[in-house]
Amino acid sequence: EHLKMLIDKLKKEQALTKEEWVELIEGRNAELAEYLFALAREERHHYYDHDVYVRGLIEFTNYCKNDCLYCGIRKSNSNAKRYRLSEEDILSCCGTGYELGFRTFVLQGGEDGFYTDEKLVHIISRIKELYPDCALTLSIGEKSRESYQAYYDAGADRYLLRHETANAAHYAKLHPASLSAANRQQCLWDLKDIGYQVGTGFMVGSPYQTAEHLAEDLLFIKKLNPHMIGIGPFIPHHDTPFADEKAGTLELTLFMLGLLRLMLPKVLLPATTALGTIHPKGRELGIQAGANVVMPNLSPVSVRKDYSLYDNKICTGDEAAECRFCLERRMKSIGYNIVTSRGDSLNI
Ligand code: SAM
Ligand code: FES
Repeated sequence: EHLKMLIDKLKKEQALTKEEWVELIEGRNAELAEYLFALAREERHHYYDHDVYVRGLIEFTNYCKNDCLYCGIRKSNSNAKRYRLSEEDILSCCGTGYELGFRTFVLQGGEDGFYTDEKLVHIISRIKELYPDCALTLSIGEKSRESYQAYYDAGADRYLLRHETANAAHYAKLHPASLSAANRQQCLWDLKDIGYQVGTGFMVGSPYQTAEHLAEDLLFIKKLNPHMIGIGPFIPHHDTPFADEKAGTLELTLFMLGLLRLMLPKVLLPATTALGTIHPKGRELGIQAGANVVMPNLSPVSVRKDYSLYDNKICTGDEAAECRFCLERRMKSIGYNIVTSRGDSLNI
């Protein structure tokens, strides 16, 4: 009953203290989760009705100069088969996506120096020229403020950069010494300041993660007040130092989605591919816990399986149209509708 009262307080005040977050996360059980999800759905329906926004994900390079310990495309993974899409390839993905009703494209990739700012600005301008009614999201990691500004001036609207974990010591256990939580977070503040619609997020159940860390993630996100929050379970990749670590659970990921919906009722919250990978109905359950976005894959099938961040990733053999219609069916099956609009965030 005490925990239910904490959830009521969260709904009312859209905030809790660190101690209260930890209490909720550690004390959670199935009944409490159902209580949380019902309230989360109420908020979701109030702001976004039964609409589900779609974003067409284009994974344009799997080269990466970084060496994140969890990630299958880390530079030390010599078994990764590397690829890059040309500007023409990327534009052709957008064309396919546009025909399928996508009005948001997400360009995601490793931190690949081949794509200089000049090349990126060119690609961004071309996409915005050809598809002026579409929103363009970048997810290409940590860059200088000047670079972020150049992409924004070229027409990029949104930027996804998960903070991964707000706790600096935990961050250091997941990343090489060249990367820091402080720099990652500074990038997010810069992006916001420039005027991007910003998405952050974290992995659930990453190695060494505690309830305190998750509480710190929630506090950081509250402070950042982003437009979007991408969370998904950590899933081990066999060619990384974390090959033998346990995956994050469906249950905790759903619980965190519910908490996020109550903390930032108007935020965009995707039911991620990783969630769909650990459970056949993961994305549907994510929507029912408060999520309101899905991100089907638009990458060419020829490179799909090579963008392998974690093992057993779903959709790697499916054409863009198949993913699009598969998700439409899945959302309909639980009473939700995919809508083809830009789907801007109400959390501004
Ligand atoms: N390079 C860009 C960046 O760092 O933001 C974008 C690509 S990065 C591969 C996208 C996200 O994949 C990361 O933010 C991370 O949370 C997620 N990811 C990487 N490895 C993962 C794993 N083993 N399990 C689950 N998610 C993973
Ligand atoms: Fe490339 Fe982590 S190894 S983003």
